[in-house]
Amino acid sequence: RCQLPGVDKTTKPKRNLFDNASNLLTNLLAGSNLKNMPVAEGAVTDLFDRPLFYSLYDWFLEHGSVYKLAFGPKSFVVVSDPIVARYILRENAFSYDKGVLAEILEPIMGKGLIPADLDTWKQRRKVITPGFHALFIEAMVRVFTKCSERTILKLEALIEKGDHGDKSTIVNLEEEFSNLALDIIGLGVFNFDFDSVNKESPVIKAVYGTLFEAEHRSTFYIPYWNLPLTQWIVPRQRKFRSDLKVINDCLDDLIKNAKETRQEADVEKLQQRDYSSLKDASLLRFLVDMRGADVDDRQLRDDLMTMLIAGHETTAAVLTWSIFLLAQNPTKMRKAQAEIDSVLIDGAITAEKLKKLEYIRLIIVEALRLYPQPPLLIRRSLRPDKLPGGYNGAKEGYEIPAGTDIFLSIYNLHRSPYFWDSPNEFEPERFTVPKKDENIEGWAGFDPDRSPGAMYPNEIIADFAFLPFGGGPRKCVGDQFALLESTVALALLLQKFDVELRGSPDEVEMVTGATIHTKNGLWCRLRKRT
Ligand code: HEM
Repeated sequence: RCQLPGVDKTTKPKRNLFDNASNLLTNLLAGSNLKNMPVAEGAVTDLFDRPLFYSLYDWFLEHGSVYKLAFGPKSFVVVSDPIVARYILRENAFSYDKGVLAEILEPIMGKGLIPADLDTWKQRRKVITPGFHALFIEAMVRVFTKCSERTILKLEALIEKGDHGDKSTIVNLEEEFSNLALDIIGLGVFNFDFDSVNKESPVIKAVYGTLFEAEHRSTFYIPYWNLPLTQWIVPRQRKFRSDLKVINDCLDDLIKNAKETRQEADVEKLQQRDYSSLKDASLLRFLVDMRGADVDDRQLRDDLMTMLIAGHETTAAVLTWSIFLLAQNPTKMRKAQAEIDSVLIDGAITAEKLKKLEYIRLIIVEALRLYPQPPLLIRRSLRPDKLPGGYNGAKEGYEIPAGTDIFLSIYNLHRSPYFWDSPNEFEPERFTVPKKDENIEGWAGFDPDRSPGAMYPNEIIADFAFLPFGGGPRKCVGDQFALLESTVALALLLQKFDVELRGSPDEVEMVTGATIHTKNGLWCRLRKRT
């Protein structure tokens, strides 16, 4: 995963207010240069009336799989094509950086992997990737189980004391999943038990405050927070600063503690990947133990903050949409429960048992197909480039100038009528259909031989038509962690409860920031299974 071909030495200069103006200018020039590309004119209302990815989908059907989207003076190239996506993410990955996304996330994540400039990224990715070793993920199954069981106990208690005579309770499962995912990431990444399932704390509030602000920034058109004094004058920016301080102080303490408690015996165990007898198997322990005391605290903090944010809402969203889809498909829900009942008969959940939960795994990936987190990947070209020709309306490759902002629409790729049968249907079984014909225009199914042994369908098997974790060198580092986490949580929940939506599915409106989530929660009725 971490083969880094000659990384370009371009580093991102420090930004200031004038850079925003110059970025806009570069973007204007870049936008005006996109010759021959079909143009979709966006109205500002498209940004506010409904999630942007809906409009991007309609324009994709109208203009083809590479088009220019112009919003007043600002423009983006929207890509919904697997060949072009593969080129940008993998084949020519180092000619692109994270552009607008890095600008939004840098104040929160600093030089963490997601917004990092290429030099920093190259150095940190090499250090972090080995931390997500297969045996670490296996050891994490204990954490996934412990945290999921805590959520289940809470839900059982709600049912017991509930005032619904029929032994049921009504809960907002989105909120429960958010707490669960936060607890898991806290324990797995830095051995800190938020216990947010059961209590509120200043740190938890600060984490949610920060996520809320990140979302606000990703959907707000003008980056007013970069103006001088705003962080002291504007109340929400003041709150953001104080939330960041609470989290950073907490992370600094954890790093200090991890450094002070470093023990040679643990280092040896980690070198041998013997996670079974380690009291603290967290990623922070690994990063501190394997690198010794020389590891830079600031960088470590940025890395932890990045994983806290990248691994929390995303996983919570997958669980939310999996339940949303299953609750509308009772036959599939029963099929899932039958599989769980036959596999999880007794004893702890193990990696072996997870392999047998095939249908649950397919439900998770199908939920990621229909509700990708995030629905768009963002890139900016660092130099002039020529995009390759692709499918549907993008047969000609397009020249793009340096500074072109690009949206890779994962939502469009995942729901493309050109690559998927019944693209809007929830069909976990679709992933078991083998690829039919190599020469077919477009893509006609999975080729499991491309990625033997993969427990979950991935972008390689699907030739970049399925990109739940991105692709190429900047692919998600936490993909296997997240997939197993979601599988454990979903299996344990469905083992114990029958789930129904309260109200109709249409009432569950979507909103997006970094992830797709509901507007008012996923309210469900839970009944204990007998
Ligand atoms: C990157 C999705 C869970 C850490 C990414 C990217 C995607 C993604 C699409 C690529 C972004 C891009 O190319 O611009 C998801 C989804 C998750 C998930 C859908 C859950 C279902 C996690 C977890 C962690 C994590 C649990 C950590 C514990 C990261 C990091 C990156 C990343 C550090 C940046 C990688 C790099 O640039 O080298 N994720 N992620 N993610 N993710 Fe995840």
